[in-house]
Amino acid sequence: MTETMTHIDTVSLRLLINGQWIEGSGKELESSSPANPSTVVAAGGTATEADVRTAMAAARAAAADWAATPMAERGSYLARAAGIIINNADAWGHELAREEGKTAVEGKGEVLRAAQILNYYAAEGDRLAGEVFSSPRRGETIMVTRKPLGVVGVITPFNFPIAIPAWKIAPALVFGNTVVWKPASTVPLLAMRLAQALVEAGLPQGVLNLVIGSGTLGNEIVNHPDLDGLTFTGSTGVGRKLAATAAGLGVPIQAEMGGKNASVVLDDADLELAVEQVLFGAFRSTGQKCTATSRLIVQEGIADAFMARLHERLTEWKTGEPTDPSVQMGPVVSVSAAQEIRAGIAASIAAGATVRFEGDVAGLGDAFVAPTVLELPNGENNAWREEFFGPVLAVRRVTTTQDAFAAANDSEYGLSCALFTQDLSKALAAMERIDVGILHVNSESAGADPHVPFGGAKKSGYGPKEQGGAAKEFFTHTTTVYLRGA
Ligand code: UN1
Repeated sequence: MTETMTHIDTVSLRLLINGQWIEGSGKELESSSPANPSTVVAAGGTATEADVRTAMAAARAAAADWAATPMAERGSYLARAAGIIINNADAWGHELAREEGKTAVEGKGEVLRAAQILNYYAAEGDRLAGEVFSSPRRGETIMVTRKPLGVVGVITPFNFPIAIPAWKIAPALVFGNTVVWKPASTVPLLAMRLAQALVEAGLPQGVLNLVIGSGTLGNEIVNHPDLDGLTFTGSTGVGRKLAATAAGLGVPIQAEMGGKNASVVLDDADLELAVEQVLFGAFRSTGQKCTATSRLIVQEGIADAFMARLHERLTEWKTGEPTDPSVQMGPVVSVSAAQEIRAGIAASIAAGATVRFEGDVAGLGDAFVAPTVLELPNGENNAWREEFFGPVLAVRRVTTTQDAFAAANDSEYGLSCALFTQDLSKALAAMERIDVGILHVNSESAGADPHVPFGGAKKSGYGPKEQGGAAKEFFTHTTTVYLRGA
């Protein structure tokens, strides 16, 4: 692609503030393709701190009328936006692949998933809105009703540039909150696409505001006196800082943070199934999911056969330009992310890891990281402890089921885990003993449905979980009404 052609495709970035698409007057941002950094996917001015304040004021001004809008009507905007997203799924999926680096197939899948999430919340008006209890006193009923928090800040990561925003913004809106949203600065184009769909769906002005720019905008949001709640997905470091600030200001926060998810393969597992699911869990989306499999615990009796078959499958795993339909894995999100992952692999090897597989990324750009399998002698290795957020799988062999479960729990994180066994009693024991927010039995560690809670145990999450009934816990507060006739 020539330089000129490259720029013909560049989309102009705009902020959405109080229903208007405006150009940010802050520093210029270029969103480039990690597979080919000279391709600028979108470019434009970022939001200034003053823009964030204007957005917060717009969200505050819109809050009362939005809260008074019937839930079914609020849901209807989401349903219309879902239709628009579905109509654009091919184009936006392709843009997602160019901007973020996952394959176009995964990109389209993610775009459709965003629509599915919007449709799930669109029907919220048809579900339970509160509870009624009997009273110990004659002539009285006790009701528990729900109200929106008010103005909610939404801070989203790069790795699911449209699905994660949808799963935060859709419940925020349908439960009656107005939103100021700051997406990761690496994926502003897909953020604009979601906001566009909601604007085209007729969302009233000020209900959703989009501010594009660096992490400092997040500080402006969390410190703003109009903020009534904050939902965040991203790194543990940033999440803890935001949580500390929000706690200091008495603002509720929901933070989804790191993971170091294990797949546990027991001797009696279905080998083909386990290998395929571990492969998908570890290497789809280039390992950039908080739910990705980054640790593999394999029992001695199946370990050699498992490792040999995984090696075979990985030799067929094609890494390359993410919009090429024959490719299964693209680059990571940026050259600097790739450098950090490569440094992590080198440190792991220096600390005693043995390389069991290293894919071929010769001739590809600097943001490509070879799919890598490292076998570790013990858990005292950075590849066991630290989240790399890339295509790296750290393996340990264990002797007993008990050792396998103990190894799975040997992490400060507890987001998801995948167990491979055909023995029901072992699956039941894992449900008891493995300390995670999401347990998969005989399927990969990633994946989440919109109608059930999503989130981690231990240090993976802070505050109420997301999705399903859990979303309501965060995005509303209750009023207990003692109702007696006079
Ligand atoms: C998935 O497993 O499909 O940041 C979704 C993340 C998670 C979403 C995972 N919050 O990767």
